[in-house]
Amino acid sequence: AGGTTHVVAIDGPAGTGKSSVSKLLAAKVGASYLDTGAMYRAVTLAVLDAGVALDDPAGIARVVAGVDIELVPDGDGAKVFLDGRDVSGPIRTDHVTSAVSAVSAVAEVRTKLVALQQQNAQGRFVVVEGRDIGTVVFPEADVKIFLTATPEARAERRHKQNLAGGRDSDYDAVLASVNRRDHLDSTRKVSPLRAADDATVVDTSDKTLDEVLEELSGLVSTRIGAV
Ligand code: DC
Repeated sequence: AGGTTHVVAIDGPAGTGKSSVSKLLAAKVGASYLDTGAMYRAVTLAVLDAGVALDDPAGIARVVAGVDIELVPDGDGAKVFLDGRDVSGPIRTDHVTSAVSAVSAVAEVRTKLVALQQQNAQGRFVVVEGRDIGTVVFPEADVKIFLTATPEARAERRHKQNLAGGRDSDYDAVLASVNRRDHLDSTRKVSPLRAADDATVVDTSDKTLDEVLEELSGLVSTRIGAV
């Protein structure tokens, strides 16, 4: 990959429409798409499968050090492989969702995944979505966007996604889980969720996906132009 690296960093909490808009944005501007949350989910699945307790950071670090994570482009999104096994479905279960904050708070886990993310973007034009992309992974990103929305708007979206994906869902439980994960993700010691000082903050509560996509692609063409 001898090309120039161009990164569009998209951060923000769950349920802001981040994944949907990131995939569409990547397709629209002709960039690759990197879902870093899927990587944290995949290593969390490995930890759960290994039977390691979530309050055992050394055990978590040991399991994660030995796993191989691969993201393979698939349509607008990507398939996730854990040690060669396609785990794209299993990483979206509640079981993984409720354990991922504990695993992603372990410093060794973040060090490993951040390095993988940086390698993945090398020499490419890529839209990277996550929590710490503009602050930690790519502090020199060409474009930094931080998506926000009210907890209620976000819980509503997650709830609908669950139902659309054929998963059981209860709105109040989803709202409680959104609030709990926000709290854990924004108060953890390593790479807490926050907007980079130079990020453009976009509140998606009252915007359609198309409106957000227009706004973001406008920012990308202004800052990067045709790549
Ligand atoms: O975006 P998501 O819901 O799939 O992310 C799953 C979890 O992974 C989320 O609770 C926080 C964590 N995560 C992280 O710590 N850093 C990232 N760059 C991306 C996700």
